[in-house]
Amino acid sequence: MKKKKKLEKNIVLIGFMGSGKSMTACALAEILKIKRFSSDEMIEKKEKCTIAELIAKKDWSYFRKIEHSIIKKLSLKKGVIIDCGGGVVLNPKNIAFLKKNGLIFYLKTDPKIIYNRLKNDLTRPLISGPNPLARIKAILKERLPLYNQADFIIDSSSPSISVPVAQILKKI
Ligand code: S3P
Repeated sequence: MKKKKKLEKNIVLIGFMGSGKSMTACALAEILKIKRFSSDEMIEKKEKCTIAELIAKKDWSYFRKIEHSIIKKLSLKKGVIIDCGGGVVLNPKNIAFLKKNGLIFYLKTDPKIIYNRLKNDLTRPLISGPNPLARIKAILKERLPLYNQADFIIDSSSPSISVPVAQILKKI
């Protein structure tokens, strides 16, 4: 599947960890021949450490501040794919910035599927404590109204990335 398209707007992917944002973003970038930016990767590059190290060294509020400054910068871009960290929706200013030049797609995934995808990597700071499934369910419930601010809700529970990719291609 090859498709070259000049996009007016950015394609912005939001959703919980393990919802397939990065893989979907990479696949879309390849198909549409456009650039992809990951807010998490940019934070790690700027801070010269992993997100887990950053949270351990500083704290969540520091991380969210850096995340906001990266989102502000990324939202000025045009015609690119922006793959956002799962907590980007916590700051309403992030969504406002991203909406200016972008169409926001929420990759919605069932919590049990998220748990199965993440269970071998439970070192992620947000879910590294006891009972990760309950934690995923609780955070998702809390964030659902925020994720629902997206322009489009895309089901990404399928094991194949081609399902959300095809749905997004239909909307742009
Ligand atoms: C977070 C999700 C992570 C990362 C950080 C916080 C969250 O990104 O930004 O650990 O609050 O949901 P991914 O969703 O890309 O894993």
